[in-house]
Amino acid sequence: MSSVINQATGLAAGLNVNQWSQIHQATAALNPQQLTWLSGYLAGMAQAVQPNVSMQQDSVVAKFLTILYGSQTGNAKSVAQEFKAKLDAINIPTKIVSMADYKQKQLKTESHVVIIVSTHGIGEAPDDAVALHSFLAGKKAPKLNDLNFAVLGLGDTSYEFFCQTAKDFDKRLQDLGATRITDRVDCDVDYDADVAAWFDTITHQVKDELSAKRAKSSQSVIPSLNVHPSAVVASQYTKKAPYTATLLESQKITGRDSVKDIRHIEISLEDSGIQYRPGDALGVWFKNDIRLVDELITALGLQRDDSISWSGDNYSLHNVLVNKLELTQSYPAFATKYAEYANNVELNALLDDKSVLRGYLAQRQIIDVVRQYPAKVNAQQFVDTLRMMTPRLYSIASSQAEVEDEVHLTVALVEYDAHGHGHQGGASGFLSTRLDEGGEVNVFVERNDNFRLPDDGNTPVIMIGPGTGIAPFRAFMQQREAEEASGENWLFFGNPNYTQDFLYQTEWQRFVKDGIVNKVSLAFSRDQEQKVYVQHRMIEQGAEIYRWLEQGAHIYVCGDANHMAKDVQDALVHIVIEHGAKSDEQAEQYISDLRRAKRYQKDVY
Ligand SMILES: Cc1cc2nc3c(=O)[nH]c(=O)nc-3n(C[C@H](O)[C@H](O)[C@H](O)COP(=O)(O)OP(=O)(O)OC[C@H]3O[C@@H](n4cnc5c(N)ncnc54)[C@H](O)[C@@H]3O)c2cc1C
Ligand SMILES: Cc1cc2nc3c(=O)[nH]c(=O)nc-3n(C[C@H](O)[C@H](O)[C@H](O)COP(=O)(O)O)c2cc1C
Repeated sequence: MSSVINQATGLAAGLNVNQWSQIHQATAALNPQQLTWLSGYLAGMAQAVQPNVSMQQDSVVAKFLTILYGSQTGNAKSVAQEFKAKLDAINIPTKIVSMADYKQKQLKTESHVVIIVSTHGIGEAPDDAVALHSFLAGKKAPKLNDLNFAVLGLGDTSYEFFCQTAKDFDKRLQDLGATRITDRVDCDVDYDADVAAWFDTITHQVKDELSAKRAKSSQSVIPSLNVHPSAVVASQYTKKAPYTATLLESQKITGRDSVKDIRHIEISLEDSGIQYRPGDALGVWFKNDIRLVDELITALGLQRDDSISWSGDNYSLHNVLVNKLELTQSYPAFATKYAEYANNVELNALLDDKSVLRGYLAQRQIIDVVRQYPAKVNAQQFVDTLRMMTPRLYSIASSQAEVEDEVHLTVALVEYDAHGHGHQGGASGFLSTRLDEGGEVNVFVERNDNFRLPDDGNTPVIMIGPGTGIAPFRAFMQQREAEEASGENWLFFGNPNYTQDFLYQTEWQRFVKDGIVNKVSLAFSRDQEQKVYVQHRMIEQGAEIYRWLEQGAHIYVCGDANHMAKDVQDALVHIVIEHGAKSDEQAEQYISDLRRAKRYQKDVY
């Protein structure tokens, strides 16, 4: 009966009998969850094409606000979705599109665009934004005299090139003739208040015009479902509403004599219904170390029970410092506010030179600054110098095809002595040493569609993952094994010593034995006099890498962003020049074509 109704509805919607029969065949074997996903996916596709329909009907200007976001680790995407929901609630016609899915030439038909974009690498555009960013910078960028725009940047003032990508978009759109709706806002890590103010300004500016345009326009087609396809399968648990999971296991997987302490972490997601895919990251909220908080309170001459108000609620000083505020990273905004109470000439001088200040803070936690420059400050004043803690992300090291309702991570414990005291990283210390097995940890999945196995299981894969960079490749191989994918797999791994630091050694040996992994190239830097890193192994194997690439291999890089990712990229360029007989320029083009085809993907941090 329902099939008859559906067929009638389908035919009424313009499907012919043949199309209806194909759809029926293709969906007959799907379970309810798959059908739900598919319905959202198709709606998302409709969203992507509908603006074009609208443009055909009215090619001068679109009649809605387009929110374009470029995000790497999900923040800009969440902010964009939040803005969309707010505008929907007051009936401002809006669509939301990831820059990765945006047809660049459409820009010149838009009337109102807001750009919400983060910055990554060393002042670089997030992967999703690279194509649009370089299109706008290039000669083919159109004149945009009819466009009204605004830019919101997400970044981190600890980086030298703060919100650089937002600055680039803002300047370029202006140069191309577009008109600002309001000035660009560059947000630091604690962006909620700035974002809310920016939302209000834009809403105020566009409300009348867009609502009026909508009323006048009988032609305009406003997409009714503005959820990006990737959001459809999103879990109910998010960064702001995480799932309280249980730590199952935290096991050191580096040897007793290793210079590194790396943990294999297993977390239960039981009953949460959370789904993730290899390539995704897990967001982890942590608690600060109680000993650190006590030392800080003592250093400040304050009391644990001092009462403070924070974000509209009352807390004890101890509680808010353990659970809410960032203590293990320091940052320029803290130094600036704290300096008012420290009243110290040396600290004030540091504030005058941004790059010196950044270098100083990179080596110090909040408590180091407090110890070095004591201040006369009360509990409320001190709390007001601090920013809210941010969850840390960890590349997921498991596939649900293998571990079902668990999620595994590979976490390097940040632990060091400095300024006469021992220090630990906030989240890595929590997961590795402070949280007991069976204890609770708040988590959420951060999707990363820019780090995905090829759709075709026959496609060969090259994985470059030294150190904790190995994590997502363990997930990749679990997935490929479960899917019985026949494509070849090649791992490049490195760490200081073979006997101490070969992470998941027995698992990789088993993958090799079972024919899942076809090649492993190892670089243990300290096992010989001269340091050897993965990029050196790549150069040695250059001819073979090039052959794999020519056969369609996808290449993945995970791990250290500061040095490794750049050295690996240089090695790749070198390989293409040498084994592809290409000029420098052609090799750069080859690599950027790989990137554009999503065959060269990075998950670096
Ligand atoms: C997408 C993504 C994926 C990631 N995946 C992984 C992963 O799989 N595994 C993993 O281990 N990490 C991963 N990370 C990094 C992770 O998110 C955290 O940044 C890392 O664990 C440190 O966090 P923490 O809270 O322990 O340390 P924090 O509290 O953030 O402290 C780190 C700070 O301590 C300071 N510091 C560190 N060492 C020293 C030193 N020797 N001297 C002086 N100061 C120092 C530095 O200022 C540094 O910024 C990933 C990051 C991203 C963005
Ligand atoms: C590896 C890495 C590099 C970053 N580089 C910069 C940078 O150069 N400039 C900046 O302002 N912020 C930088 N950031 C901070 C991000 O822009 C910030 O965390 C932002 O909220 C991320 O938004 P997204 O999740 O939408 O990508 C970097 C973050 C990471 C993890």
